[in-house]
Amino acid sequence: MQRILVVDDTELNCELLKEILRDGYIVEMARDGEEALLRLREYPPGGVSAMFLDLQMPKMDGFSVMAQMKREGLMARIPVLIISSEHSVEVENQCFEMGASDFIHKPFEGSIVKNRVKNAIELFSCKNQLEWEVKEQAKTLKKQYQIIQMQAEKLREAEPFHRLMMEYQAAIMEVETRLKVLNAEFSQLYKRNPFESIKSRLKTPESIYEKLARKGCPATVECIRENLTDVAGLRVICSFPDDIYRLSDFLICQDDIILIKKKDYIKNPKTNGYRSLHLILDVPIFLSNEKKYMKAEVQFRTIAMDFWASLEHKLGYKRKGDNTEEIVRQLKVCADSIEELDYQMQEIRNKIDKAQ
Ligand code: GTP
Ligand code: MG
Repeated sequence: MQRILVVDDTELNCELLKEILRDGYIVEMARDGEEALLRLREYPPGGVSAMFLDLQMPKMDGFSVMAQMKREGLMARIPVLIISSEHSVEVENQCFEMGASDFIHKPFEGSIVKNRVKNAIELFSCKNQLEWEVKEQAKTLKKQYQIIQMQAEKLREAEPFHRLMMEYQAAIMEVETRLKVLNAEFSQLYKRNPFESIKSRLKTPESIYEKLARKGCPATVECIRENLTDVAGLRVICSFPDDIYRLSDFLICQDDIILIKKKDYIKNPKTNGYRSLHLILDVPIFLSNEKKYMKAEVQFRTIAMDFWASLEHKLGYKRKGDNTEEIVRQLKVCADSIEELDYQMQEIRNKIDKAQ
């Protein structure tokens, strides 16, 4: 059953309305404006279906109640039917201007009151339903528009993006070939390989977009080119620490390779113990009708450094806050032992080399 709040200071009026409405509604009473507002605030939205409001009341009159209801957003939720013996057109109009749904003159005619309240409730619920539907549709349209925009953007970018990835792949191949040539020459001259293996990877689109977003850049081909240095990534796993420097120097010395940045995490390990030599290079690639420079990140590590970095990565590199201080300390201890082992192994190799 729907609830109706009757606000009137005259006992007789309240009883009369209660009598008229009690067949179809739960009827609640309030004796003045203040009490009416308290009652309204008690109920959740929809808890009161309509309100009969007297104009002349002690403490707070009907106009003030409507003004306060408007401030609290209640006029938009509850139809207000004014009950008054007032016959002035101005007063009636003022009530409508303040948002009243109907104006019923005293003395009441039971059947008319019933019909009017029924109409007011129906109209209000239709109006609210329509408003809700319009709001929902607007939300859906906004979402769809955003999705379309994103898809259009992706589509626009698709061709150039694929081309860009092909060019980064070419840069990987270029660096890989040069390193393999150096390895071949080395093994002929010194009967050993300076590196054990090369791993390479193209950064995934998800990772690219995520990094661009982190840097506050839009997802465009130009921004990828300008702001990301590790879309083409190579990892060169060497046998001994000195191989890392020898090999990387040979690569940097090639006259068409440009060194953009060198990060020596072997001489200056990260605080967690991470060791590797990182080179950011500009590498030429040769396409059907042009020569182009592409950025590539080459990480040089020994087998031991790689063993540590891989395990440390699995244990949660980048998942900051996960590692307890103790785990971080233990990993650092391992990294330092690994460094010691690396140099011990290098010494052993040097002794063997000398003996030969
Ligand atoms: P990212 O945004 O993570 O690429 O860092 P960055 O571009 O500032 O450069 P940085 O030289 O710090 O790291 C480049 C790459 O080196 C990373 O993407 C990892 O592959 C590797 N790396 C760097 N620090 C660590 C580390 O502490 N642990 C491990 N396992 N790998 C690391
Ligand atoms: Mg990186």
